[in-house]
Amino acid sequence: MAMVDLREAHDFTANPYPYYAKMRAEGPVHTLRAEGFDRIWLIVGYEEARAALADQRFSKDWRTGDTWSASAGSINANMLEMDAPRHTRLRKLVAREFTARRVEALRPRVQQVTDQLLDAMLPAGRADLVDALAFPLPMTVICELIGVPDLDRDAFRLMSGGIVAPSSAEQEGEAVRAMGAYLVELIEDKRRAPGQDLMSALIEARDDGGDRLSPDELVGMAFLLLVAGHETTVNLISNGVRALLDHPEQLSLLRADPGLIDGAVEEMLRYDGPVETATFRFTREPVRIGPTVIPAGEAVLVALASADRDPVRYPEPDAFDIRREARGHLAFGHGIHFCLGAPLARIEGRIAIRTLLERCPELARDPEGGKPDWLPGLLMRGVRRLPVRW
Ligand code: HEM
Repeated sequence: MAMVDLREAHDFTANPYPYYAKMRAEGPVHTLRAEGFDRIWLIVGYEEARAALADQRFSKDWRTGDTWSASAGSINANMLEMDAPRHTRLRKLVAREFTARRVEALRPRVQQVTDQLLDAMLPAGRADLVDALAFPLPMTVICELIGVPDLDRDAFRLMSGGIVAPSSAEQEGEAVRAMGAYLVELIEDKRRAPGQDLMSALIEARDDGGDRLSPDELVGMAFLLLVAGHETTVNLISNGVRALLDHPEQLSLLRADPGLIDGAVEEMLRYDGPVETATFRFTREPVRIGPTVIPAGEAVLVALASADRDPVRYPEPDAFDIRREARGHLAFGHGIHFCLGAPLARIEGRIAIRTLLERCPELARDPEGGKPDWLPGLLMRGVRRLPVRW
């Protein structure tokens, strides 16, 4: 087991994969030193990562940890930061809205929004693909689904970015507070003027015991759905397009047979998924993984990006191969917190990338686009801008 100091690994954010490969070769569990933490445990092997994600000895409730001192607020009252049975109760209330069948009905609207965004983008001949397509598509879809079409997207994007990819602890604390206040207001508006949407339904919903969601739980739910609904899919689209542009032979294959898109999106998720490490877990008791014992009360990250490049699970893991059998990847997590929005994200990713390729036969990176601006932190993997031309 090695202690990795991320503050000294300057190129880690641009390309963490060689670091993960080195760690995996030494063992499945390591410790990290990172800004604000003395020690974070990092699980890097595929089998160990999959097992840990489904292991209830790892709690998702931040109060279990000794080392975690997040500026908690009402936004933390969400299912991703809870264990059963509180998690079960909240997930059940929204699960039926996100089943593959239910989400299939959104396909025409996803296509329509994609077409409109591309109509607006195409005449210019060049664009930042994040700004023009990858961000607004999932944001529009999730806002409509929840029932907040007038959300101030620029303000929301700033707060949301400050939480999932903060540049500093101060920025994170400020963003958490601002987001909490913003959502309280949003829910009050919805309460005053309900519609045929998910948020209105949740305000009225009762769980199996007949209880309503508490005000904090409503804020937590709105936060999780809005943030998880767009911070991730934006990077599926942009990381996926980057992978294609970096591998022209794979791009040609997909152009020649657009029917490969479903498998291609799974490979994009495996090869360079939007979520680099799963969210924090905390040991309730000492947990042995191979030769290592993680003591109780410790903060643990499961490195999904590393697990999905484990050669024990995927031969030649660093090759981007849209025809490989990529399913089984951990990009959407595993266990009770497996991504609720996976069916929606898959539909958005497939439609966005397929339509983009159809309408831009000459799609290429913009040579004047400058250097990539990577999202900071360990949670999200992606670029802030993706300048392209066609
Ligand atoms: C490509 C896009 C996406 C990726 C890669 C992704 C990834 C993930 C991952 C890895 C987790 C588990 C985190 C953990 O265990 O620590 C998760 C949970 C979750 N995701 Fe996604 N996600 C995506 C899109 C979405 C969308 C569109 C929604 C829309 C609603 C969504 C909603 C959620 C929710 C609610 C949870 C928490 C589930 C629970 O705690 O039971 N995600 N996602």
